[in-house]
Amino acid sequence: MLAVKTNNPTTLTEEIQIKIREVMEQYPAGKSKSALLPVLHIVQDENAGWLSVEAMEKVAELMGLRPIEVYEVATFYSMYNLKPVGKFLLEVCRTGPCAIMKGEWLIDYLKKKLKIDIGETTVDGVFTLKTVECLGACGYAPMMQIGEYYYEHLNSEEKVDKLLEDFRMKGFNKN
Ligand code: FES
Repeated sequence: MLAVKTNNPTTLTEEIQIKIREVMEQYPAGKSKSALLPVLHIVQDENAGWLSVEAMEKVAELMGLRPIEVYEVATFYSMYNLKPVGKFLLEVCRTGPCAIMKGEWLIDYLKKKLKIDIGETTVDGVFTLKTVECLGACGYAPMMQIGEYYYEHLNSEEKVDKLLEDFRMKGFNKN
């Protein structure tokens, strides 16, 4: 089951700051920028699944970096969210092999079913729809990631409906 943290997304709690320092200590002195990817994951996981400008500025301050260095990384990688997301983030692969295997249908169906566009969240705050590049599961296309898990062969309305219903009702789906 996915746990949704509800810390204030504009702050870094003392607990988060301790975790950040622990990660930074794993890198050589003067190379703290190398810790930025795991640090941003920590902040995002602890702050309701997204990175606010305020949180990124505090990360920069804590790590001795310029804010722009943090923004550059956070905006480059699709795994970081720069605005609030729903309880469950649907990350649908839009790359070639998935597209050939009904990936475009899957994206269109989710848009229609959830009544949202890419990058939007359902009115009940449950689902956010996002498209991403290849997730390395091309042989199981079309697919999407929800939380830490992959959901594959999503090539029919029945499969997608069941998946969404399981998440909406139970907070998870067992493949
Ligand atoms: S193309 Fe979709 S997982 Fe690789």
